Amino acid sequence: MRLPSAYALTATLAFASVGSAQVVDADLVGTWATKANKTLTGPGFYDPVGDNMIEPSRPGISYSFTSDGFYEEAYYRAISNPANPSCPGAIMQWQHGSYVIGSDGSLTMTPIAVDGRQLLSQPCQNKNSIYTRYNTTEKMKAYRVYTDPYHGVARLDLTEFDGKIMQPMYLVYSPPTMLPTQTLNPTLAAGATSTSKAKRDVPREVPSNFKMGVQSQVMNPDRWWWMGLTFTGIGGLLYFGPRRMGMQL
Ligand SMILES: *[C@@H]1O[C@H](CO)[C@@H](O)[C@H](O)[C@H]1NC(C)=O
Ligand SMILES: *[C@@H]1O[C@H](CO)[C@@H](O)[C@H](O)[C@H]1NC(C)=O
Repeated sequence: MRLPSAYALTATLAFASVGSAQVVDADLVGTWATKANKTLTGPGFYDPVGDNMIEPSRPGISYSFTSDGFYEEAYYRAISNPANPSCPGAIMQWQHGSYVIGSDGSLTMTPIAVDGRQLLSQPCQNKNSIYTRYNTTEKMKAYRVYTDPYHGVARLDLTEFDGKIMQPMYLVYSPPTMLPTQTLNPTLAAGATSTSKAKRDVPREVPSNFKMGVQSQVMNPDRWWWMGLTFTGIGGLLYFGPRRMGMQL
């Protein structure tokens, strides 16, 4: 079976979101963010040209939704370190793709698999930050848009599938501030649709000034993937390479 190219995939997703959307909800359209309002979707969080994530000044979550079925998500939070509570880590995640509101009121967000990015920094466990692809479909059981009684602004509550309600988000921009909604990283995309799971298993290391909010080096997960192969040596390459990458030789 031939794999679709990234563009074909995008077109399919876009078509699917329009074609199968049960409900259109203008109230959802816009950029939403948790209270600190420093983690926001758009070019301030992920730079697709340099393939860099830009560390916000405060942790938070942001989602954007368009009226034609696209979404984008920015996530930045600290992660605890049980072994050494005074040395937490941080994680940044970015995805975009298409969403569908189900007739049951659920909200399903399907990312463009090759575009998502994650940057994980755990300075006490690993002196380098780890930059990888990120691809997670999110299914929200429900969502609710209403005027927050205390702040008097539009508020979005997302209910996760286990019933847990996420931190409230407030409307920041309408129309939303987002990166282009088509595939941004088509490099290796045709292969990547089948291989990036394998790729994810191999962390790509980047210089660790992540905590400073500065990344001195252009990040390119595809290049790191290939560089990583050379570190495993020729034997490793022969043994792991083609099989783990699912390469069609
Ligand atoms: C959130 O931050 C954005 C960008 O700095 C700003 O335009 C907006 O007014 C802020 N909104 C609130 C509610 O603070
Ligand atoms: C992305 O995630 C979806 C849902 O979990 C999965 O079906 C798909 O194979 C993944 N794609 C890649 C390229 O990892």
